[in-house]
Amino acid sequence: MTMYDGGPEPGRNDPCWCGSGKKYKKCHWACDERLQELFEQGEEVPHRSLLKTAADIESIKRSAAINIGVLDYVGEKIGPGVTTAEIDQWIYDYTVEHGGVPADLNYEGYPKSVCTSVNDEVCHGIPSSEVVLREGDIVNVDCSTILDGFYSDSSRMFCIGEVSEERRRLVEVTREAMQAGIDAVRPWGHMGDVAHAVQTVVESHGYNVVREFGGHGIGLEFHEEPFVGFVGEPDTGVVLVPGMCFTIEPMVNAGGASIDMSDPNGWTVRTADGSDSAQWEVQLVVTDKGCELLSW
Ligand code: MF3
Ligand code: CO
Repeated sequence: MTMYDGGPEPGRNDPCWCGSGKKYKKCHWACDERLQELFEQGEEVPHRSLLKTAADIESIKRSAAINIGVLDYVGEKIGPGVTTAEIDQWIYDYTVEHGGVPADLNYEGYPKSVCTSVNDEVCHGIPSSEVVLREGDIVNVDCSTILDGFYSDSSRMFCIGEVSEERRRLVEVTREAMQAGIDAVRPWGHMGDVAHAVQTVVESHGYNVVREFGGHGIGLEFHEEPFVGFVGEPDTGVVLVPGMCFTIEPMVNAGGASIDMSDPNGWTVRTADGSDSAQWEVQLVVTDKGCELLSW
């Protein structure tokens, strides 16, 4: 018989399809029963290939240890006068010294090891020796690591020296919005719960969520299904199932939601109205109780 995701149903005493080595009835059987029922009720459910095993999660955590470590390292060294090219070099060196590979490097032709997006840059700012961080700037450092084929991905905002009250507030509200999204993750809940929680925080402060970019499944690939948008309604979208691993990474504009993708470098995205933009990103796994953060 085919199941919720079009795949075959194992016998109860067969090894589980997930590769855990356990019998199906002691592994994903109960989860599959529930998914099958939801599927038959017309719910959007994830393909089984998106459900990570305990061993996958351990490997992702080893990758994430590098990703977290390198962002901590950036936090210690970043400040006025640092160029974004220097940050790129720190990230490349640290990652490689710890046995990892920067996932951004050569990803779809991307030329550097990290994205550094300053002030009105929404995302995918390319590090450059021409970009000198100045007192008052806000910058997102978005870093991703591959270790033994497993991907980790997270980003943080850094305030350079003293920043204006407006910028500080944007950075803080964006972090609050991400946290509201994390808090909304429930096993057997919906992705729309996450989107709605983020959007509510952002818009209550008069800011706007970027529509074109969002989070993503991650683990065995850099970008897996599902797309994780940050505008939506509760109880809509894909069902959240223990073992799903994805990012929450809202891009929040102080002004309008529109973006400008016309930079000739083919990557750097800016706000259309020149307003500031902020972003934080964590990577998590859905658990039986809620979620566990893997990279931040
Ligand atoms: N790190 C980004 C994300 O959060 C992806 C950057 S892709 C790059 O998904 F090529 F621009 F580096
Ligand atoms: Co990401």
